[in-house]
Amino acid sequence: MNEPHIIDLRSDTVTQPTPAMRQAMAEAELGDDVYGEDPTVRRLEEMAAERMGKEAAVLVASGTMGNLTSLLAHCGRGDEAIVGDEAHVLHYEAGGVPALGAIQLRTVPNDSHGMLDLDALEATIRGKNVHFPRTAVVCLENTHNRCSGGVLSPEEMAAVARVARAHDIAVHLDGARIFNASIALGVPVTALTEHVDSVSFCLSKGLSAPVGSVVCGTAEFVAKARRARKMVGGGMRQAGIIAAPGIVALETMVERLAEDHEHAALLANGLAQMPGLRIDPARVQSNIVVVEVREGVAFQKRMREDGVLISAFGPDRLRMVTHYGVTRADIERALACAGRAIGQAA
Ligand SMILES: Cc1ncc(COP(=O)(O)O)c(C=O)c1O
Repeated sequence: MNEPHIIDLRSDTVTQPTPAMRQAMAEAELGDDVYGEDPTVRRLEEMAAERMGKEAAVLVASGTMGNLTSLLAHCGRGDEAIVGDEAHVLHYEAGGVPALGAIQLRTVPNDSHGMLDLDALEATIRGKNVHFPRTAVVCLENTHNRCSGGVLSPEEMAAVARVARAHDIAVHLDGARIFNASIALGVPVTALTEHVDSVSFCLSKGLSAPVGSVVCGTAEFVAKARRARKMVGGGMRQAGIIAAPGIVALETMVERLAEDHEHAALLANGLAQMPGLRIDPARVQSNIVVVEVREGVAFQKRMREDGVLISAFGPDRLRMVTHYGVTRADIERALACAGRAIGQAA
């Protein structure tokens, strides 16, 4: 009998490129992108800028490099960037922004779906005083990874931007999963990005491309980000090889994210029925399901032994992410495994 396949819910970064992406890679027209001569990269960058409603774009190697180059472009050494206390850039980017940019990260609280507390934001922005660092930028994250894939509405994004503008501060969006936010809300991506000066989005998560993120903003900002990319070693030569599947991702993989969101809701509703697991399914707005379970490490191990991989934010806080390649039947099997895993714990 065939062994059941592994269901990998650790992240949407595990997605494999589609056959059309592999073909596009094989056929991509290439040049030296550091000289600005790769036509496929240029096409992707134009397409990305247009989708985000911005003047220009630059392809970078990863979401981490997208945030780093954006903050290097917005800030000088000793400047301060305000981030949510649950932000990806704060928790999972190896401290690169302070280490490499001499940029101080200062936090304000994120609420349960990733919104910043506006009063705290206002209070955190520095006044002009020789003792203080300069507050240069406020960072948002939409959807919000550590906040259960929470989605910020256009109104929430506008509210943050209003506070920032009043103090002459830029707004950067970590939009690693901005298309998930747009699909979840049923609004165009530009309804979300119009409020920010810069946005970095990932091709390699739910959109299933193998590598890459794109940073978008004004032409002047993108020129600075491009220079920062070179500085951190991210100038890539025949990068059309990775831009080509990125183009396929933008053309073919956005609308299907709705399916991942349905699967996440199904998973969350099923988990909510199980005694011993704490989850509010109403908080699951996109493709990320966060569940609290006592002795999470043991639960995660039992799930793995049963063929379902999940990740952890902490010992009792687990994350499951739906994505391309995970079917409704997989979710049903994952739920059955969770039932067994929690049953063994009881
Ligand atoms: C919200 C968010 N921003 C940025 C990143 C970084 O992306 P990468 O892993 O490509 O560096 C991630 C990755 O999971 C993420 O979830």
